[in-house]
Amino acid sequence: MDSKTYIAKTLAGLEELLAEELNGIGAENVKILNRAVEFTGDDQIMFKANLYLRTALRILKPIYSFKTVDSTSLYRGALKLDWSEYLSLNETFVIDAVVNSEFFNHSGYVGLRVKDAIVDQFRNKYGKRPSVDTKRPHLRISVHLSYDDCTILLDTSGEPLFKRGYRLHGNLAPINEVLAAAMVKFSGWKGDTLFMDPMCGSGTIVIEAAMQALDIPAGIYRNEFAFERWKDMDLAPWYEMLSKEEERLENLPALNVKIIGSDISQAAIDIAEKNVEKAGLSKHITLIAKSFEKTIALSETGTIIINPPYGERLKKDYINSFYSMIGRRLKFKFENHKAWILSNNFDAIHHIGLHADSKKILYNGALECKFLEYSMYEGTKKIK
Ligand SMILES: C[S@@+](CC[C@H](N)C(=O)[O-])C[C@H]1O[C@@H](n2cnc3c(N)ncnc32)[C@H](O)[C@@H]1O
Repeated sequence: MDSKTYIAKTLAGLEELLAEELNGIGAENVKILNRAVEFTGDDQIMFKANLYLRTALRILKPIYSFKTVDSTSLYRGALKLDWSEYLSLNETFVIDAVVNSEFFNHSGYVGLRVKDAIVDQFRNKYGKRPSVDTKRPHLRISVHLSYDDCTILLDTSGEPLFKRGYRLHGNLAPINEVLAAAMVKFSGWKGDTLFMDPMCGSGTIVIEAAMQALDIPAGIYRNEFAFERWKDMDLAPWYEMLSKEEERLENLPALNVKIIGSDISQAAIDIAEKNVEKAGLSKHITLIAKSFEKTIALSETGTIIINPPYGERLKKDYINSFYSMIGRRLKFKFENHKAWILSNNFDAIHHIGLHADSKKILYNGALECKFLEYSMYEGTKKIK
C-alpha cells in the first residue's frame, strides 16, 4: 500500500506522548509540530492511528496544497483539485477551516470559498452538485491556511477521537478523555500497582487507566470513523483488524491490581458506574461513594491521580483549606504512594503544602492547569 503523510492533532503539551504512540504503531517519519504530530504510513497505519492512539484528537490526511493571497486565488486553487476523486454526486460533505493568515480573517469565509469551488466544479461537469451535511457527511474536509499556504486535508476520524464511545452520561466537569489518558501515561503507572482516583466524578481517569492496563484500543467502542464512509476505500483490512481486537477482548485476563474510583457524590458515582459498565470494565474497576477525608490507602503502594474541583464556585478560604486537606491526607494516609494532581487553581495548589517532584503545564479545555507529581515517603518529606 502507498505511504502517505498524515497529521495527528493533539492538545498542547501532549505532542511527545503522541509521537511515542505513533512510533509504537509503526508510523514513520514522525515529526513533532505544535499541537500536532506529522507522520507517514499506509492505510493500515491510518486505521491503527484512529483505533489505538490515546492522545490524538483526530487524524488528518493532507491531499493538496497551493498558494493563496485572496478570495480569487483561494477559489481557483481549490478548483484545481479533482474533487470527484474523493466525492460522488450523491454524497455529502462538510468543510472546517483553520485560518492563521493576514490575507484572510474569517475562517467561515475561507470554508465557504472552498465549498463554492467544489460545488461549481461538480455543477460544471455534471449539472448537479453534492450537498453539505454538517452532522454525518461522507467527507469531512479541513482547510488550513497559514500565511499564503493553503492545505486541503481530509479528516479520517470524524467525531474527535476523545469521543471514545463509553461516555453515556457526563457530570458537570468531566475531563477530556485524551487528557485523562495522557495523565495516566505521564504518571508512569504500568498497571502493576494499585491505581486510585479519589475524586473520580464520571470515572474518566479510572476508565482510561483500566483501558491502558488491559491494552484495550482507545477507539474500540466508537460507532464510526470518517474513513469508513470514504469512496473507494478498501475496508477489508480494517474489519479484520477490528474483529481480531474484538476476539482478543472477549478473553481479557482479569487485572491483578485494583483500580479504584471514589467520589463524595453518590450522583457522580452513579454516572461513573454507567460509564464503566458501557466500557465493559465493571469487573476491573471498583467504585465507591466516599469523601477523600475518609479515604485510606488500600495497599502498601500505588498511584493516585486527582482532578479536584478548581473552586470556581467555591469561596477562596474554603478551596485553600480543601487543598491543604488533600496534602495532609496524602502525606499521612498514603505513605509510599505517588500522587498526581491536576488543577488550574495555582493559589490553592500552594496550600497542598507538599514538595512537587515535577510540574507540567497541561490544558483542561481552555483552562491552563498544572499537573504536579508528589512522592510520599514515610517520614522523609516534611509538610511545609
Ligand atoms: C473536577 S471533578 C472530577 C471530574 C472527573 N475527573 C471526570 O472526568 O468526571 C471533581 C470531583 O471531586 C468531587 N469531590 C469534591 N469534594 C470531594 C471530597 N471531599 N472527597 C471526594 N470527592 C470530592 C466532586 O464530587 C467532583 O466529582
